[in-house]
Amino acid sequence: MPREHASFIRSAWIVRTDRGSFAAMPGKLHWVIRLGWVGWLSSGGGLACGSEPDTTKLDAPARGASESAFSGASAQRRMARLGEQIFNDTNLSTPPGQACGTCHAEEISFTDPDDDAPTSAGVLEDRFGFRNTPMANYTSFVPPLTFDPEEGLFVGGLFLDGRAESLEAQAALPFLNPLEMNNPDRASVVAKLKHAPYRHEFRRQFGADIFEHVDDAYESMTRAIAAFERTRRFQSFSSKYDAFLAGTAHLTRQERLGLALFNDPAKGNCAACHPSVVAEDGSPPQFTDFTYDNIGVPKNPDNPFYRLPGELNPEGVDFIDRGLGKTVGDPAENGKFRVSSLRNVALTAPYTHNGYFPDLRSVVDFYNTRDVADWPAAELPETMNRDELGNLGLSDREVDALVAFLETLTDGYSD
Ligand code: HEC
Ligand code: HEC
Repeated sequence: MPREHASFIRSAWIVRTDRGSFAAMPGKLHWVIRLGWVGWLSSGGGLACGSEPDTTKLDAPARGASESAFSGASAQRRMARLGEQIFNDTNLSTPPGQACGTCHAEEISFTDPDDDAPTSAGVLEDRFGFRNTPMANYTSFVPPLTFDPEEGLFVGGLFLDGRAESLEAQAALPFLNPLEMNNPDRASVVAKLKHAPYRHEFRRQFGADIFEHVDDAYESMTRAIAAFERTRRFQSFSSKYDAFLAGTAHLTRQERLGLALFNDPAKGNCAACHPSVVAEDGSPPQFTDFTYDNIGVPKNPDNPFYRLPGELNPEGVDFIDRGLGKTVGDPAENGKFRVSSLRNVALTAPYTHNGYFPDLRSVVDFYNTRDVADWPAAELPETMNRDELGNLGLSDREVDALVAFLETLTDGYSD
């Protein structure tokens, strides 16, 4: 299944933007300026998501007439600040104790710091989801799920199976998931917001009577969270590799070898799905083309979801995660998951949708020897990709070099 690097996806984005679906994706412009991806910016790139925020519901600030000329950018910053408070509010679960930030911790690229299990515990600690918590970083770049007829591939969608079309839609779900924050309904979440320490700011931004309208209040909450997720803190493009692309850092010999293997279709072939180059429009590489694949990950017997009682997991140990196949209702897509971005990947163990792989070397080893060494069978062998991976013939030294290259993708690099 050969694929062209993300160019077709980029054009899909722009079309979608013209239709206005990205109207609620503000906030990019501001960090792009700081990044110095000047070429991208001046060519209009990044603006795909940089439309001005909808400020119609924003009240003027309470104090200071001088602030009444509330600019789009500062409104956006306030919205993001409110979103951060909601993201970290552990009172918004039932019982209290779990926030988004509990499973998505900033210092590890907004993934789960709890390494006791390959998936995450809910607020009720004997409950677990069936997926490994992915990073929330760089998710603002994930376009909504669409089918590309030319390539015959699904592209985009939040969650590993693409079932949420935007960050707002995604943020609406964990609050009500019995395996996560476990609230019975939207009204109970809004009742908690109404007494939260940031309730005045919430009213200021969304209207004095906002808490009287449950759906409006709930959706406003998801907009604030998404605004936070679109800030630079989630996408700083500040890795050693970014510095290398900008000409301000040198890769070691081993890292350079890793990069060459990563890009070489006859060696690692990783860039076929995890593009590593600056796109035509100047935008930095995301290390995912947002498509879906079944790379043949085995069932993970350590996944605590298998041990959940029948009401929460009716299939018990026979549970199979069908991924995209379930979202789109097509068995041909069973076992496919969205290609992971590899940015910050050194921080986000364990790896793949069920956390089967404890460290980076084991993932690379798997790509290298899946079909020739003694690996357990794929959970869903029927749809497994047999063309692009599984027997790469890499030496130990080359596997090490690939891992060394992946480690250059960690943000916060300084000499
Ligand atoms: C109990 C742990 C847990 C909590 C609490 C939690 N998440 Fe997640 N998050 C996950 C898991 C697991 C997934 C992947 C689920 C899937 O693919 O079905 C995920 C997926 C995501 C994604 C999509 C990532 C991607 O690559 O598509 C985002 C964004 C995200 N969460 C943000 C949030 C926000 C915002 C909250 C609070 C409203 C939150 N999460 C609460 C565990 C958690
Ligand atoms: C055919 C497409 C494809 C190719 C080629 C490919 N990958 Fe992947 N990669 C994926 C998909 C899809 C996932 C998500 C799998 C899952 O969660 O089940 C993934 C996941 C990963 C992960 C785990 C990320 C995480 O956060 O859990 C790493 C690491 C990785 N790939 C590295 C590589 C390297 C290194 C190569 C080259 C040796 C490579 N990939 C080649 C499609 C591909």
